[in-house]
Amino acid sequence: MKIPKNCIITGATDGIGKQTAIELAKLGYNIGLVGRSKEKTEIVLDQIASKSGNHSLKYFIADLSNIKTLDTLANNIRNEYESIDILINNAGAYFSQYIETKENIEKTFALNHLNYFQLTKLLMDIVKFDKPGRIINVASAAHSRAKLDIDDLQMKKGYKGWTAYSNSKLMNILFTYELHKRYQDTGITFNCLHPGFVDTSFGDNNIGLGRNILSLGKKIIAINVEEGARTNIYLASSNEVKNISGKYFYKSIPIKSSKVSYLPKYQEVLWSYSEKVISSLS
Ligand SMILES: NC(=O)c1ccc[n+]([C@@H]2O[C@H](COP(=O)([O-])OP(=O)(O)OC[C@H]3O[C@@H](n4cnc5c(N)ncnc54)[C@H](OP(=O)(O)O)[C@@H]3O)[C@@H](O)[C@H]2O)c1
Repeated sequence: MKIPKNCIITGATDGIGKQTAIELAKLGYNIGLVGRSKEKTEIVLDQIASKSGNHSLKYFIADLSNIKTLDTLANNIRNEYESIDILINNAGAYFSQYIETKENIEKTFALNHLNYFQLTKLLMDIVKFDKPGRIINVASAAHSRAKLDIDDLQMKKGYKGWTAYSNSKLMNILFTYELHKRYQDTGITFNCLHPGFVDTSFGDNNIGLGRNILSLGKKIIAINVEEGARTNIYLASSNEVKNISGKYFYKSIPIKSSKVSYLPKYQEVLWSYSEKVISSLS
């Protein structure tokens, strides 16, 4: 008998993450949903169970922009799952204004990058446990508009919301390529993707022009969430990619990411800076 695979999805309470959870639950995966509000996550868990008929669902609560709480989250996940087959780092947001977390980290950097970085590192040994495991980082085509200053990765000077968001999505790709370089021997595969421009709640946490433009764009040109979740589902479940790693996908096809995303110097600087920020928290 085939044992169902364990899949952890962050940002599983809305948009692309929620749809990914629904579809993977339909395929029979055991899903660990990571949400930030207990109330909303419990509602979503019930919706996923009734839509999929799958009751092998668990949930975990964490504010993923609070990096120290990831230790507790990872421990809670370990208490429930002996091994993980798939980790989908998906939770992310755009912040039009400069915000610092209570750990004094710029919030886009904390949520969209450091959270992926630290949760992956904390869980990697149990993803390895049942190899080949898969780690999937949801990035974005917005990465091609990044203007990364490697001396100011948190954009503490001259913050611009869209640039910070684009930078963070470039970081998702730099991180994926560096993971592949460092850990390909483990048998784990590391891939990232652009889901498309998807009609989700993305951007709704803001006020003002940025949010209005985004809302209009979503109404006019965005794809629906079913389509937006397809590349996630493909990377999580298809046999075609079981041995493919270190790639950036769009529409379930590996494509080239921006030139800067391939620069080893950027990959390494981001890695060492992320470690430095995290070690300063303890
Ligand atoms: N939509 C697009 O067009 C698009 C395009 C390219 C890439 N992406 C990427 O796709 C990913 C998912 O975005 P989406 O469009 O599905 O957005 P969404 O509908 O806003 O969903 C975001 C998810 O992340 C969770 N989240 C946000 N802040 C969090 C925090 N501090 N702690 C824990 N969870 C948090 C949200 O939780 P709540 O339910 O509690 O709000 C929600 O589950 C992001 O990484 C985004 O960058 C999206």
